[in-house]
Amino acid sequence: MANKSSRISGFYKRSLADRVAFVAEWAGLTSAEQTILSGATGLDAAAADNMIENAVGVYALPLGIATNFLINGADVLVPMVVEEPSVLAAVSNAARLFREGGGFITASDEPIMIGQLQVLDVPDLDLAERALLDQTPRLLALADEVGGSIVKRGGGARGLEVRRLNETTVGTMLIVHLLMDVRDAMGANAINTAVEYLAPEIEALTGGRVVLRILSNLTDRRKATAEGTIPASALATETLSGTQVVKTIVEAGAFAEADPYRAATHNKGIMNGIDAVAIATGNDWRALEAGAHAYAARAGRYTSLSQWWQDDAGDLHGRLTLPLSVGIVGGATRVHPAAGVALKIMNITSAGQLAQIIAAVGLAQNLAAIRALATEGIQRGHMRMHARQIAVAAGAQGAEVAQVVERMIADGAIRAEHAGTLLQALRQSLPNAEK
Ligand code: MEV
Repeated sequence: MANKSSRISGFYKRSLADRVAFVAEWAGLTSAEQTILSGATGLDAAAADNMIENAVGVYALPLGIATNFLINGADVLVPMVVEEPSVLAAVSNAARLFREGGGFITASDEPIMIGQLQVLDVPDLDLAERALLDQTPRLLALADEVGGSIVKRGGGARGLEVRRLNETTVGTMLIVHLLMDVRDAMGANAINTAVEYLAPEIEALTGGRVVLRILSNLTDRRKATAEGTIPASALATETLSGTQVVKTIVEAGAFAEADPYRAATHNKGIMNGIDAVAIATGNDWRALEAGAHAYAARAGRYTSLSQWWQDDAGDLHGRLTLPLSVGIVGGATRVHPAAGVALKIMNITSAGQLAQIIAAVGLAQNLAAIRALATEGIQRGHMRMHARQIAVAAGAQGAEVAQVVERMIADGAIRAEHAGTLLQALRQSLPNAEK
């Protein structure tokens, strides 16, 4: 597609078929890939049977496309899987606002995962610690022996750290962290294999007993950051100036930074976007949730994952940083056919690039929520989507849905029986219309 811009106005007003055609042209999707998006093909029960135990079928969720994202100067369409209405509209709208300030600037750490070994009953902690640190090069080389394709692609063990947990309920523990660059994988299998392989050697060196050998989901060596500016003028509403909206958004951010009760909800809004891209790309969203919330509590008090402030020019500036252990090889990213199509739509070539897009989506989703909350409240937007569901449940089809929705909103009566009455009236006024 020549001159590819993700800035698309009224994408939501197009038919589903038009949207698919647009995305297909944008990303060069084959017709087989298009049918995967529709759900007509793609993950079937036989594939599900190979993915999990006790499979009895598949469970579908809506897949949408977020528009308007400009990330490090590149236009991106972002596939998102989510059951909650308003998420796609909100994030696309927020991406449009960031676009007015030049789009998102993103960055990500090297893909370093942490594997933990829990060592108990160590006879001499100082001696054990020294032995481990002295032997680090040998231990790293040992870990690389089981690194397989990750080592071949330039990843592998990068470091060893030793921590002490004094006076736990069962006494002092030595905790060994293996740091491993997992390249484009999420890396759970690689790091778990490596720590299991190292365990006997760690026991020999420490004289202790290794019990747990598992990755940490607090992947704080593998963070991604997104930030961006929104011109104050772009935030003005019918009743508030742009400067007033900047102020109320900054106040909303300060509330989340100061209060865990608000931070939980604020961060949930961020994860609305993050999880939706993670699911679309076949990534483990529980791992991201665990990492995000642990990171939000890293200073000993749960706080906001994002920060919002007014810059010297009076515009709104936002930043989001969080651990994002996502992969583009292995696991469901390759097994789920729709995940492959999602990666193709975004033209993803590395796990770091995916993490950066996800961070931008999280920041945009956050802005959308706090902007709505700090101005008109979120119910107005939500009610429109709610009205759609009520119209569809009342039997409205095609163009009837929008007509019934608009009338219900205008009448201030978003109720099932009113939808039924409106639908009947609509059909009676168009006697030749298809019913
Ligand atoms: C709803 O899914 C998410 C919000 O509650 C987030 C927030 O309050 O910031 C709107």
